[in-house]
Amino acid sequence: MSAPAIDRRELRRTLACFPTGVTVVTAVAPNGEYVGLTVNSFNSLSLDPPLVLWSLTSASRSLAAFEQAKHFAVNILADEQVEISRLFSSRATRKFTGLELKPGIGGAPLIAGCAAYIECRIHSRQRGGDHMLFIGEVERHRASSKRPLVFVHGRYVSGPVP
Ligand SMILES: Cc1cc2nc3c(=O)[nH]c(=O)nc-3n(C[C@H](O)[C@H](O)[C@H](O)COP(=O)(O)O)c2cc1C
Repeated sequence: MSAPAIDRRELRRTLACFPTGVTVVTAVAPNGEYVGLTVNSFNSLSLDPPLVLWSLTSASRSLAAFEQAKHFAVNILADEQVEISRLFSSRATRKFTGLELKPGIGGAPLIAGCAAYIECRIHSRQRGGDHMLFIGEVERHRASSKRPLVFVHGRYVSGPVP
């Protein structure tokens, strides 16, 4: 018997049962402009060597910049940063204007007030369906005691997450 056809909407609903943190992944384009978007496909991959991964839709306006970048930064959002998540998941063209930023390794911007930061050198890329999988080698990281923002069932959850 062949596998049943997968309905895209139902698949999204099922995947949304998996709670995740929320990150903004950033890099610098060859022309010096910052690029960044809200990402919840981020995850850890390996401790030795220290590797993390995330995937980028091929519809992203930032695809070319991330493909050419040598570094990216993962800004793990704190629970009071829902507006940052909304901004970076929007089609806004000037996402970084007015934000407090610090340049990370390779110039990838770090957004002030996040729960944690992971700065990576791009280790490898691989196409996976309609997304590009990025694997990064961790070059620097910093954690804080801030509560992380959580996303589940298509909604942000802020509150008592340990
Ligand atoms: C909570 C959340 C998580 C998201 N995770 C991803 C992701 O992992 N990969 C991705 O390509 N887009 C993800 N998106 C969608 C992008 O943030 C959105 O398409 C954004 O507009 C892309 O910006 P760009 O075209 O400027 O790159 C997510 C959106 C939200 C709200």
